[in-house]
Amino acid sequence: MPKVLIIGACGQIGSELTFKLKDLYGSENIIASDIGYHNLDVVNSGIFEIVDAQDYNAIKICIEKYNIDTIYLMAAMLSATGEKYPMKAWDLNMNSLFHVLNLAKDKFIKHVFWPSSIAVFGPTTPTVNTPQHTIMEPTTVYGITKQVGERWCDYYHKKYGVDVRSLRYPGIVSWKTMPGGGTTDYAVEIYHQAILDKHYDCFLSRNTELPMMYMDDAIDATINLMQAPSEDVKIRSSYNLAAMNFTPSSISEAIKKHIPDFKITYSPDFRQQIADSWPKSIDDSSARTDWNWKHKFDLDKMTTEILTQLRHKYNDSKTNS
Ligand code: SER
Repeated sequence: MPKVLIIGACGQIGSELTFKLKDLYGSENIIASDIGYHNLDVVNSGIFEIVDAQDYNAIKICIEKYNIDTIYLMAAMLSATGEKYPMKAWDLNMNSLFHVLNLAKDKFIKHVFWPSSIAVFGPTTPTVNTPQHTIMEPTTVYGITKQVGERWCDYYHKKYGVDVRSLRYPGIVSWKTMPGGGTTDYAVEIYHQAILDKHYDCFLSRNTELPMMYMDDAIDATINLMQAPSEDVKIRSSYNLAAMNFTPSSISEAIKKHIPDFKITYSPDFRQQIADSWPKSIDDSSARTDWNWKHKFDLDKMTTEILTQLRHKYNDSKTNS
């Protein structure tokens, strides 16, 4: 059994990864950590430690205390917040990565997962079926940290033999934990507002197409990549990963199949420019060939699933209050 430390376990992806890894490897082998007690479901689900991702010693103490061999580094400042606090985004995203890569280089741990993003691409990248290897001139601070982080992952693998693996996540859509500070967050907010208000005012314009993925697929991809034999993981910067592409207008049509009087309005803000710099669709054939990646959810299947889950969630909270 691997002994896993998840840094950023209270976040949108970190929380669901924590639960899935506990199911797979046993709660006693999964140590969740974050900078605060931000997600009580995670905090109360087993072993939980306060760890600041920028504090090398705090991470090292945790590794030694629990005999950790694998780290999932899920803490990051995302694209929209990163534009408000550029230096904080740079510090958090880069310092945390260097700490974990150096701990692996110095043999305190054996395996690292670090997420990259479609934000590594920029306005000069081909936008349709964006290839694995292509022009990358990101224009957000978040995208710059992810692109440079990819280069460092590849460098640590080639130079020091570090087993680091990475995925360029598209926008991740889920219903349990809200995302924070991303440009693709609208695709989560819209489902909550559809149930609560039957109306959503979208911060991106009607036809802004972006690559997206349901959480279950993102978690499966992450675990599949980490379980793949080392020789199958041919790309050590980060793999393109894809499932579906949609626009605010097409997600609202999918919601209307369940909630016919749902209405969407559009008030694009500063996030529009970020979205416009990213691809519309991604070619992830390397992931499909190298380690057999397959997605399960398309827009309609995801919409049915999320609306069903959220109806239960909001009904339960009404009954309990
Ligand atoms: N979901 C992220 C964001 O919008 C992209 O990786 O910032």
